[in-house]
Amino acid sequence: MTIDERGDWGQGRTEQSSLDLGAELGPADPTAYTTRRPIPNPAPLEKHGPARVIAMANQKGGVGKTTTTINLGAALAEYGRKVLLVDFDPQGALSVGLGVNPHTLDLSIYNLLMQDDVTIDDILIKTNVAGLHLLPANIDLSAAEIQLVTEVAREMALARLLRPVYKDYDFILIDCQPSLGLLAINALTCAHGVLVPLECEFFSLRGVALLLDTIDKVRERLNFDLELDGILATMYDSRTTHHRQVLQRVVEAFGDKVFQTVITKTVKFPESTVAGAPITTLDPSSAGARAYRQLAKEVIAAHAARQR
Ligand SMILES: Nc1ncnc2c1ncn2[C@@H]1O[C@H](COP(=O)(O)OP(=O)(O)OP(=O)(O)O)[C@@H](O)[C@H]1O
Ligand SMILES: [Mg+2]
Repeated sequence: MTIDERGDWGQGRTEQSSLDLGAELGPADPTAYTTRRPIPNPAPLEKHGPARVIAMANQKGGVGKTTTTINLGAALAEYGRKVLLVDFDPQGALSVGLGVNPHTLDLSIYNLLMQDDVTIDDILIKTNVAGLHLLPANIDLSAAEIQLVTEVAREMALARLLRPVYKDYDFILIDCQPSLGLLAINALTCAHGVLVPLECEFFSLRGVALLLDTIDKVRERLNFDLELDGILATMYDSRTTHHRQVLQRVVEAFGDKVFQTVITKTVKFPESTVAGAPITTLDPSSAGARAYRQLAKEVIAAHAARQR
């Protein structure tokens, strides 16, 4: 389902109307919407591709975009899916989180974008997780944002580069930087779907309307089939009333566009970043690993339903 099909989103959507936290809240019971329907186990694949390209986008910083890219990617790979992760943030946090030192890279996605003689194979890194590949980035990418401005079809640069490998992967996840600049627009133009990680804090809600408007604009002008794949509640602490209220509001506003999986707050995630590995391999039986596996099952089920 697209945003437009929801009808209730399109008209007069403002931060106040859809995301008003001021109204009275009933008792919050997160289990009521985190177990709405059973999530099927992923079926084994007979063949790979073509990929569903998903942009992890939220212009707010520190909401779990990179953590979700790494761990959803690793969980999808555990289910036998071939996954390409694209670091599209000059901070290079995705690369760091997979044990790659961005400062020592000879070639990165910047070179792929800017040099015709650099191919995906030249920059591709096979991670320690089977089936999980990475296109790394470093600070060089920040120059691309400026250099692309004068290019023809500047919003389509990433899409043009990734299209040849769609056939090789089941999922391509793009980790966006926290802005709605040209790099993020490139990611949205290239994507089939957008996954919006949303920290369970009041101030996180305020930016979502702007993000959704941007997604609408990209759909109208550049990428007609772009879908909102879902909103993922992150850094959730069920003991905190505020978190429960925010989650409830998000579900009221976005209904079944909210993933049933909720990512709880745990120190294991910062630890896994330092260790340079996904939580699914570092601590496979932890609640965090299980949550990202469940998210992977949701993403696979939604993709399978679209293909039917
Ligand atoms: N569920 C969680 N519980 C606790 N800490 C988390 C969780 N998810 C992410 N973190 C930590 O929060 C910080 C920000 O997360 P992350 O880098 O994934 O966000 P981001 O949206 O990619 O940030 P940026 O906008 O800067 O790219 C990191 O230190 C990460 O380890
Ligand atoms: Mg990030």
